Parts: sequence; C-alpha cells; structure tokens
Amino acid sequence: MAIFEGERSDYGFGTLERKDLFDDPFQQFKFWLDAAIAHNIPEPSAMCLSTVSEQLQPSSRFVLVRGIDHGFIFYTNYLSRKANELESNPHACLNFWWATLERQIRIEGRVEKLSATESDAYFNSRPFESQIASASSPQSQRINSRDVLEEKVQELRRGGEENLVRPKHWGGYRLVPSYFEFWQGRSARLHDRFEYTLLEDGNHDKSTSTKANQPTAWEINRLAP
Ligand SMILES: Cc1cc2nc3c(=O)[nH]c(=O)nc-3n(C[C@H](O)[C@H](O)[C@H](O)COP(=O)(O)O)c2cc1C
Repeated sequence: MAIFEGERSDYGFGTLERKDLFDDPFQQFKFWLDAAIAHNIPEPSAMCLSTVSEQLQPSSRFVLVRGIDHGFIFYTNYLSRKANELESNPHACLNFWWATLERQIRIEGRVEKLSATESDAYFNSRPFESQIASASSPQSQRINSRDVLEEKVQELRRGGEENLVRPKHWGGYRLVPSYFEFWQGRSARLHDRFEYTLLEDGNHDKSTSTKANQPTAWEINRLAP
C-alpha cells in the first residue's frame, strides 16, 4: 500500500481567532469565498455534498453552489441517486476545501426543493448546450454506451428550438444550514476550528431575523483540531 509521508505539508497561510469571525456564518462564508475567488482557487463554488440513503449508507459527490440566500442552492436531476436519498432523508452536509488558503468549511442542514418558478428561472438562464445536457442525461442510471446520450442530444437538437423547457426531472435544491464549521490549517497540525450552531427557536431574538421564520442566532465555539 502506498503511504504518502513525503506529501505532508505544514500549513502556514493564516490563522483564525474568535475576534476575526463574523457573528453570522453566512457573512463569514462570503468573506472566505471572496478570498478564494481573489486567490484564483479552481472551481471555488464546488462543494462536496453528502447524503445518506434509507439503508443508512452515506454517499458523496461534488456539485456547484449556484446561489446563496438563507441556504446553499444547487441544481441537479430529481431522479438521480442523490435526489432519491434526499427524498427519504433530507439531512445532508456540504464540504468546501480551498487548498491554497488551507481552509475547509463544513455545513450541515436540511435540504428542500426549490419552487418550480425558481428552477425555471435558473434553467432558462443556462446556455442551450447546458440545457440539452441536463435534459438528455438519465443521471445515475446504468446505460449501455455513450450512444444513448449522443442520440438523445441529437434528438433534442433536431427539435430546432433555441431554448428548451425545463424538464420536470431537473431542478434545484436548497440546503438550509443549522451548523457550520470553519477550519484554518495551522503549523504542526494545531489547526484552528470554529463551529457555529444554530440556536433553537426561543433562544434567540427574532428581531434579528432577516427572513420570516428564519432564526439567525448562532452560538460560536472553538473546537480542538
Ligand atoms: C466539480 C464538479 C461539479 C459538479 N457539479 C454538479 C452539479 O452542479 N450538479 C450535478 O447534478 N452534478 C454535478 N457534478 C457531477 C456529480 O458529482 C455527480 O457525478 C452527479 O451529480 C451524479 O451524482 P449521484 O449519482 O450521486 O446523484 C459535478 C461534478 C464535479 C466534479
């Protein structure tokens, strides 16, 4: 078995202290995302989405975050493996790793479907080629060869339309977080970690809420690395 002892790196990019943190984890996320973009991290919006099946088997894959409001929005096929798993268990988590900045962000919460109107708006904004790709792939299904996909793409192109109508099996989800963790790599493995835990209803001041029924009070704690 290969052991990558030679690959070990000692992290020294930055530090994270309680005084550096925004009280609102969404603001903290935005601050770090902006830094990731400024440092030209490849695919900064790629996040690893983990779901758990009805049989309690976890599975992970990357998706792109396409919007952030009171949750993290991504788009996919509603008949895919991840969609099936979210149907039976809406609890999921996200993970971002921005190597150059030595930063990891974990986010846990419940996933809900976007409204048809929201999904339509995003689908209509996509380039035609992306619309065709989402409409033609029976995502997560076993297929005999690429020809199945190529034929479906040709069939849709022959339709001669400039824009497709969003197929009902494709649309968005929003993961609404109840937990965040911000991790900053440090020297000698003594990394900095801070978690934000959403306080239960009643433990927070609703006047600070940005959206009706969206509590926004978070408790912040340092975690051992
Ligand atoms: C960087 C990256 C971004 C991706 N973005 C998406 C995405 O936004 N939506 C999506 O459905 N699949 C995306 N994929 C493909 C998924 O990782 C995955 O293969 C696909 O969604 C099927 O997953 P499932 O069978 O677990 O449902 C992306 C893959 C990578 C590597």
